[in-house]
Amino acid sequence: MKTKVVKITDPSLAKTDIEHAGRCIRDGGLVVIPTETVYGLGGDGTNPQSARKIYSAKGRPSDNPLIIHISEPRDAEKYAYTNDVYYKLADAFMPGPLTVVLPKKEIIPNEVTGGLNTVAVRCPSHPVARAIISEAGVPIAAPSANISGKPSPTSAEHVICDLDGKVDMIIDGGECDIGLESTIVMVNSDNSLTLLRPGGITYDALLCVCEDVFISPTIEGVLSENERPLSPGMKYKHYAPTSPLVLLCGDQDKITRFLCNEQQRTRCLILCYDEEISALSNKGLIPIGRHDDIQMQAKKLFSALREADRYMPDVIYAHLPDKDGLGLALYNRMIRAAAHTVKEIK
Ligand code: TXA
Ligand code: MG
Repeated sequence: MKTKVVKITDPSLAKTDIEHAGRCIRDGGLVVIPTETVYGLGGDGTNPQSARKIYSAKGRPSDNPLIIHISEPRDAEKYAYTNDVYYKLADAFMPGPLTVVLPKKEIIPNEVTGGLNTVAVRCPSHPVARAIISEAGVPIAAPSANISGKPSPTSAEHVICDLDGKVDMIIDGGECDIGLESTIVMVNSDNSLTLLRPGGITYDALLCVCEDVFISPTIEGVLSENERPLSPGMKYKHYAPTSPLVLLCGDQDKITRFLCNEQQRTRCLILCYDEEISALSNKGLIPIGRHDDIQMQAKKLFSALREADRYMPDVIYAHLPDKDGLGLALYNRMIRAAAHTVKEIK
C-alpha cells in the first residue's frame, strides 16, 4: 500500500486534506492522526473490519482494546452509557488528555473493545484531530500509532518509521505537546474513579473533581503471573528498548559521578538532565530537559528512547523520576521500559 503523508498545521487552511482523511476513515481506511498526547492509528470505531486492520497494522494482540476518539464530549452519549461523573470530568478536562472508561452501547463492536462490555472514550484537544473526527462523522478508534512494543510516536517521523506502507494516510501535525499517552480512568458503580493509566491529567487534578480516586496497583507494581489488570494494555511489555535500560536513584551528585565513571568503562548511553551535560563527556548523551522540568522530560522521553536504541549501546542509563504530579506518568512509562530495573547509587 502507498501511504500518503500530508502536513497540516491549521485545519482551516487544509479543507481538502481534512475531507480526504474523513472520507478515508468512513470508507474503512486507516489514517494516522496527530493528537496532543501521541499520534494515533485511526479507523472507524463502529466498523469491526477497521478494528481488525488496526490490530494487524500495529501487530497488536486483539484482546487489547482501543480508545474511541470523539470531537465533542457530549458525543460519548452515542457510544456509551454516561453519568454525572463523566460530565464532571468532561467539564473539567475535555477536550484534553483524559480517557474515560464507560459501559458501551451496542453500536461499538466487540472487535474495538477486545470483547469487554466497556469502551474507553477520549475527546482530544488537538485541532487537527478534532477536525478529522468531526469530518469523518464516526468515532475514530485509535491506539498509539507505533508498532506494538515500540515507544509511542510523538512525531510524524516516528510514525513513518513504523507504519509507512501499512496505512492509507499519515497526517503530520508536528511534534506532540504532551508526549505521553492520555490519563485513563474507570468510573466505578459507586461513582468513585480508578486511575488505570497516569498521563497529562494528574491524580491531584482528578481529586479536585472526584473525592475518591483509587490508583490501580499495576501503575507502580509488577503483575503476578495470572493476574488480570483492569486495563488490558498494562499486562504487555512496553516501550522496551533493545539495550537494557537501568534507572538510577540516589543523591544527584553521586549519580553524576557514577555516570562519569561508566562513560569511561562501558559503551553506555545516558538520558541526562540538561544541567549534567557539562559534567559528562558529550559522547552518548541525550539531554531530556532540566531536573525540575517534568513537562519537558515527558515530551522528550519516547523520542529519546527511540534515539537511544539506534546507538545499540551496552546499557542505557536514565534517572528514576519522582512520582509527584506528571512525574507519576513519567515514572510509569520509564519503569516499564526498564522492566523495573532500578539501581540505587550510594
Ligand atoms: O493518548 C492516548 O490515549 C493515545 C492517543 C492516540 O489518543 N492512545 C493510546 O491508545 O494510548 P493505546 O491503544 O496505545 O492505549 C490504550 C490503553 C490500552 O492500555 C488499553 O488496554 C486501555 O487503553 N483500554 C482501552 N479500552 C479499555 C477498556 N474498555 N477498559 C480498560 N482499559 C481500556
Ligand atoms: Mg500504545
